[in-house]
Amino acid sequence: MQAKLKRKLLDFATEPYRSTGNFNYRWARGKLKHDPIFAALIKRSLLTDGARILDLGCGRGLLAAWLLGAERLAAQGHWRGSAAPPKGLLFRGIELMEREAVCGNRALQPLHGERVQLSGGDMREADLNDTDVIAILDVLHYIPYAEQNRMLDKIRAALGTGGLFVTRVGNAGGGLRFALSQLVDSCMSFAQGHRLPRMWCRPLGEWVAELEARGFEVQAIPMSAGTPFANFMLVARVA
Ligand SMILES: C[S@@+](CC[C@H](N)C(=O)[O-])C[C@H]1O[C@@H](n2cnc3c(N)ncnc32)[C@H](O)[C@@H]1O
Repeated sequence: MQAKLKRKLLDFATEPYRSTGNFNYRWARGKLKHDPIFAALIKRSLLTDGARILDLGCGRGLLAAWLLGAERLAAQGHWRGSAAPPKGLLFRGIELMEREAVCGNRALQPLHGERVQLSGGDMREADLNDTDVIAILDVLHYIPYAEQNRMLDKIRAALGTGGLFVTRVGNAGGGLRFALSQLVDSCMSFAQGHRLPRMWCRPLGEWVAELEARGFEVQAIPMSAGTPFANFMLVARVA
């Protein structure tokens, strides 16, 4: 994505958070500016028009903010030269910290209405039905291994043919870069008022094997560009 387009999209995606306070606005700007996964989802054309997206561990709804911001930008004729963003997406989000879901709704609903519905709750108890795409970005490692496996079982059962599961995980086999990402993860959680979290991480190969064992076709894509981390985006499709 060209730098000029990215700057404009950053403005479009984060402006709605201004009304929820300076911390939330700055948080949204920092995360969307520096995290490569949001741009990659558009660049790789992973999402189809009209997809119903369930974002588990959605935080303040930044994924919805970015993709719906991109759609608005394109609708106003500002999108040029790179893969066009998907249109008509619908977002449901579940977030353990209810106040973050409330913040996301306050920011995004005035602009996008019912297309964004974020709720407080635990993803392990979420209803996964009526969904085309399930996203879990940087969240799975907060639940124990057996519960991760149960979550993957539920996701596979909920997605029909052509369904897509997108997740990002740290590669526990990633040496120093992985250790650094864990340190930053802990600091970020602490900065947001969460307790220091316990984490259950796995090497990349193990994540891929767990998904393939459930019948997903998996692509593992390095997703740390511009950061010193050892993160991968896993694009898992039901064939
Ligand atoms: C590192 S943040 C990522 C937020 C968001 N996915 C993003 O990429 O901007 C992890 C989020 O997962 C949430 N979380 C952790 N465990 C969860 C669970 N069991 N159910 C729902 N959300 C959870 C945390 O509260 C936190 O907001």
